[in-house]
Amino acid sequence: MAGTSSSQSMFVDLCERMLRLCKLQASESLILLSQGQERAEYADAFMTAGQRLGAKVMNLRLPYSSSATSGEVGVWTVGKTPLSGNQPAVDILKGADMVVETLFMLFSDELSEIQQAGTRILTCIEPVDLLARMFPTEELKRRTDAAVEMLSAASTLRFTNRAGTDVTYRIGYPVKAQYGYADQPGQWDHWPSGGMVLTCGEDDGIDGRVVVDRGDILLPFKQYVQEPIEFVIEAGRIVEIGGDGYQAELVRQYIADFADPDAYGLSHIGWGLDERAKWAALATDSRGHGMELRAFLGNVLFSTGPNDLVGGPNHTSCHLDIPMRNCSLWCDDRPVIVDGDVVAHEMRPAEAPLRI
Ligand SMILES: [Fe+2]
Repeated sequence: MAGTSSSQSMFVDLCERMLRLCKLQASESLILLSQGQERAEYADAFMTAGQRLGAKVMNLRLPYSSSATSGEVGVWTVGKTPLSGNQPAVDILKGADMVVETLFMLFSDELSEIQQAGTRILTCIEPVDLLARMFPTEELKRRTDAAVEMLSAASTLRFTNRAGTDVTYRIGYPVKAQYGYADQPGQWDHWPSGGMVLTCGEDDGIDGRVVVDRGDILLPFKQYVQEPIEFVIEAGRIVEIGGDGYQAELVRQYIADFADPDAYGLSHIGWGLDERAKWAALATDSRGHGMELRAFLGNVLFSTGPNDLVGGPNHTSCHLDIPMRNCSLWCDDRPVIVDGDVVAHEMRPAEAPLRI
C-alpha cells in the first residue's frame, strides 16, 4: 500500500467486496492471521471491512519467523509456516468461521487441519493493485467450473509443446479449482487466482518429458526461460533434468540443494483461464508471488514437488511452478488447449478471438 488514507480506504472497500463474496455473516467470526509487521495494512483493512459487515473480527499476530511470504527476498519454501508447532494458535483458528491469512499456508499441515475443522480460509499476499485488477467474477467462476467438470471426468491428462514436451498424467487425485474467494465451509482459496483448475497424477502415474521452452516462466525464480530445460519423468518422478543453459543448471542445483528425494516428485498440473492476467507482466513487475503469471489464459501450469495439497504423500518443501505457453492439452481425447489457445468452448471468455 502506498500508505495514503484514500488508498487504504479503497483497499477497505475492496476487502469488503471480497468478504461479501465469501458470504461473511454478521453472526460469524473472522480472524486475520499475520506475522510481525508484515502486511499489517492487509490485516487492518480486512478488520475494518469485517466490522462493517458486523462480524466478530480479530487479528492473530505471530512473531515474524518466515521469509517465504514476502516473495521478494529469502528462501521460498512451502509447507513450513510460522504456525508450525504452535498448536494453541491453530486451535484458535479452527474455532473461527473464516480466516484471512497473510503467511502463505498452502501445502502446510496446519492449513489442512484448520480446513478440516470447517473453517474457510483465504490467502491474501499479493500487491493491492493486483487484488483489484484480478478481482473474482462470476463469469470466470462459471468457466472454471466447466474446466473442473471436464478434468474430473477424465482419466488422463496429456500435454505437448513444439519444444518436445509430451507427457501423460494418469489422474489420481481430486480436481481442485481456485476462483479467488472462499464461501464454503472448509474451503481454501487464494485471492487472486484468476480461474485455475488443477489436480495431481497418480504417484507412479506420470511419464514422458516436459521441455520448458523460451518464454515460459520459472517460479519462484521469477525468470523468463532463456534456453530450454528438459524434465524426463518416469513413473511419477523426475529422473533427469537436461539442458545446457545456466537456468537448467540453476534448476538442477536448486532442487538438489533440498537434499530430499521427494523434491523430484511432481506436484499439481492444470491450466489458467483468466484473460485479464498477462504473460508479459513479469517483464516490468516482479512484486509478489506471481499469481498473475500462473493464471493467464491458456497457460499450462506444470509444477514439481509436493502433492499433499490434494491428499498425496509428498510433503517436500521444494516446489517449482512453471507456467508454459503455446502448449496443447487433452483431457482423455478431448482437446482443451491447442497451441496455447483454449479451444474448449465452455471455458473460453466470450470476447476472446481464437488465434488459430
Ligand atoms: Fe504451485
